[in-house]
Amino acid sequence: MTEFHSAVDVIRTKRDGGRLSNEQIDWVIDAYTRGEVAPEQMSALAMAIFLRGMDAEEISRWTAAMIASGERLTLDVDRPTVDKHSTGGVGDKITLILAPLVAACGAAVPQLSGRGLGHTGGTLDKLESIPGWSGDVPDLAAQLREVGAVIAAASANLAPADRKLYALRDVTSTVESIPLIASSIMSKKIASGPESLVLDVKVGSGAFMKTRQQATELARTMLAIGQAHGVATTAVLTDMSTPLGRTAGNAVEVAEAVEVLQGGGPQDVVELTVVLAREMLALAGLDVDPAKVLASGEAYEVWGRMIRAQGGDPDAPLPRPEHVEVVTAAQDGVLATVDALAVGVAAWRLGAGRAAPGDAVQSAAGVKLLATRGDTVATGQPIAELHTDTPDVVPAARQALLEGIKIAERAEENSPLVLDVLR
Ligand code: URA
Repeated sequence: MTEFHSAVDVIRTKRDGGRLSNEQIDWVIDAYTRGEVAPEQMSALAMAIFLRGMDAEEISRWTAAMIASGERLTLDVDRPTVDKHSTGGVGDKITLILAPLVAACGAAVPQLSGRGLGHTGGTLDKLESIPGWSGDVPDLAAQLREVGAVIAAASANLAPADRKLYALRDVTSTVESIPLIASSIMSKKIASGPESLVLDVKVGSGAFMKTRQQATELARTMLAIGQAHGVATTAVLTDMSTPLGRTAGNAVEVAEAVEVLQGGGPQDVVELTVVLAREMLALAGLDVDPAKVLASGEAYEVWGRMIRAQGGDPDAPLPRPEHVEVVTAAQDGVLATVDALAVGVAAWRLGAGRAAPGDAVQSAAGVKLLATRGDTVATGQPIAELHTDTPDVVPAARQALLEGIKIAERAEENSPLVLDVLR
């Protein structure tokens, strides 16, 4: 190890507000992945970046180094490949509908997804509630050629530096840094090989980014990374102050996604799916109307093939909770607030999410909203169901939910679902 490349020098450079050189970035990411830079040194560097930031060039190089820590997939498929990433929210089951929909429109969707941690759900956890389904897909390209869509677990060799660094950031309070979040997300997405990418950047209580200004900055940072790495990228800023749809959890969200694929389901879920599909198809160069394809049932047909290709039975009954508790309205009025974070925490407490990586989740756990923001309710009217296999958690979940429910005399003006599109 040369003096120039010592971890202490790299940390000091950033601690004192300097720029990291390309050589420093390449070295520190590589040496950390190999175990040569100690976790306490990487923690100090992450905190220095958290406090001092990185400029666009540093962020792009940091992302490139994380991609280079593993393999970058090349997907040998005969249609345009386009992916979507959501920065995470509550009730966000959009991927389940979007992947088969965009495939039914003629593109290939390689969707490598994660597990949930804390109050935000994970797509793999949701799909694992389908009997037999597995996120382990040995040959992504083969499934893309056959079905057009795959939702799978990322292999351990996809941006392994990010996997290690994210776990470290999680326990050192260095997650909420725009350069670190942007490079983390984009390194995994770019390594998974799509030609283009649509980002759903969430804003609001249930999201990482609480304000529109922060979300716009995150979106612009990710767009610049996409451009620097030759991946055509669009970002859609969307509201996450209230949950998407009427469910938050695992099997309950799968059931809601299937409703949408069958032509029904909540209007906000349909709207966001179609908006994101339009952006994906535009990037893929396909002139197809996703709303028509959704209504035709073709996306539902692709869903069935996608689930079967991964060992699942799309017609099997989904797990049902052992215990259902009803929450009722405490007064007459209009549901002015159904807070996304509160619903997410309630679902998590019911067993839908995990507190630490590796914890088991309950497939049947979650929250089903019987009324949503803007609905008129009467005292005693059921407004939500709490689903769980472990009824001892219900009081804490109920309290978490009620902290986010406000009933007012009249409806308030709410922000639109789609706030902005950045290209
Ligand atoms: N999701 C990621 O993959 N990385 C982050 O840093 C934050 C959210």
